[in-house]
Amino acid sequence: MAESVPASGPSSGQVSGEDAGDRHEGERLQKVLARVGVGSRRTCEDLIAAGRITVDGQVAVLGRRVDPETALIEVDGAPIGVRPGLVHYLLNKPDGVVTTADDPQGRPTVVGLVPAEPRVFPVGRLDADTEGLLLLTNDGELTHRLTHPSYGVEKEYVAEVRGAPTRAVLRQLREGVELEDGPTAPARAALLDPSVVRLTIHEGRNRQVRRMCEAVGHPVLRLVRTRIGPIADRSLAPGSWRSLTTDEVRALAVVVATEPTAPPVA
Ligand code: URA
Repeated sequence: MAESVPASGPSSGQVSGEDAGDRHEGERLQKVLARVGVGSRRTCEDLIAAGRITVDGQVAVLGRRVDPETALIEVDGAPIGVRPGLVHYLLNKPDGVVTTADDPQGRPTVVGLVPAEPRVFPVGRLDADTEGLLLLTNDGELTHRLTHPSYGVEKEYVAEVRGAPTRAVLRQLREGVELEDGPTAPARAALLDPSVVRLTIHEGRNRQVRRMCEAVGHPVLRLVRTRIGPIADRSLAPGSWRSLTTDEVRALAVVVATEPTAPPVA
């Protein structure tokens, strides 16, 4: 991390307190920084006071408000959400690989497909027979936010199903399906082929897509996750992984930067 503190004053590009505090609507910068895990609010205030935080390329001052959805916020030049020592991998999980660190039955694990050091953990889980995109990271705060239902991060799946779902079936999938653990939240569903459904959900219930399709009479034959929030990659081969780019990590941090919505009242 660069320790140099830029000189203050107009010539350094620093924004005046009046500009920063009054002109910008949104949330207090230190609150946003603290929420994405940069440090306590006090630490974040100190970082701002030291001139180490920029917003859209300009050194920020205390009192600055930002829209976390759109502002490019950087700490020592690194977009928030990307801290030293943190790694974020995107894996294209093949069929038959389990989403755990250790499997008592000795099956191959997702953790075995990425570098052993530093130790990383899967973000959520895919069934052993589900293929597609899975994140692995040592960023505990990001993992918590990406998997906590109240943040509602979208996940997109492509399911090959038995039979040919009708428009009425797609409507059912969209509006909610009654499962044994309660109705599913509204989803997006589209037919890509007569027996291939693209389903976008923002819950993370166990075997949810398989159970939804089964419940509407079209059991899943093959299931592939194709997107996690803003992260997609059509060219990553099954069994391969790559590090997320800083832009991708930032995009993920932005998706989970806003306070969770209150859970719906049952
Ligand atoms: N839904 C499922 O049914 N299985 C998965 O692996 C992921 C989502």
